[in-house]
Amino acid sequence: MKFFVDTADLADIRDLHATGMVDGVTTNPSLIAKAGRNFLEVIAEICDLVKGPVSAEVAATDVETMLKEGRKLAAIAENVTVKLPLTWDGLKACRALADDGTMVNVTLCFSANQALLAAKAGAAFISPFVGRLDDIGETGMDLIREIRAIYDNYDYETEILVASIRNPVHVKEAAIIGADVATVPPAVLRQLSQHPLTDKGLAAFLADWKKTGQSIL
Ligand code: G3P
Repeated sequence: MKFFVDTADLADIRDLHATGMVDGVTTNPSLIAKAGRNFLEVIAEICDLVKGPVSAEVAATDVETMLKEGRKLAAIAENVTVKLPLTWDGLKACRALADDGTMVNVTLCFSANQALLAAKAGAAFISPFVGRLDDIGETGMDLIREIRAIYDNYDYETEILVASIRNPVHVKEAAIIGADVATVPPAVLRQLSQHPLTDKGLAAFLADWKKTGQSIL
């Protein structure tokens, strides 16, 4: 499974990219607002650093302006993935941009039928939001299972990019289901390596090693 990092914070992206675990980046208007920097500059800088897909979201809601914005964003770098909302205008813009050869990430997906439409519109990625479904008492991962089954039934190449991930359990379940990508907030990505028994075991090994009085170097 690929890991994208879900942030527009360059310091976090740089730090995590150094682990070799970052296959791409996703941003959205809320993350850009949080970063407090110029959108186009931030996307250009992320694309310089990370060679995998970097999602940049349009702000328009009508197809014509979405296309203008999408083409401007796509011109920043060849790894820009234009992010469009799952509306009829977004789906129309998705088809047009996909026909241009631009990667599109269709976002704000909350149902399997929406994911089916995005695949038919030629999306490179569909972003189902698991955390926000959990928030309203549904089970976000059920949606990932449904989309996996539908895409496999018809050999759609659209990649399932699990979004709105809130914890390591979401990452594990997405991997078990066979999602293509998890876009993970920096704090959750850092949590993935942690286990108290790893820390405890390492402390015991280091203490025993000290008792040997030896040195490897
Ligand atoms: O990629 C979309 C994601 O950032 C949304 O996450 O936590 O705001 O639901 P959240």
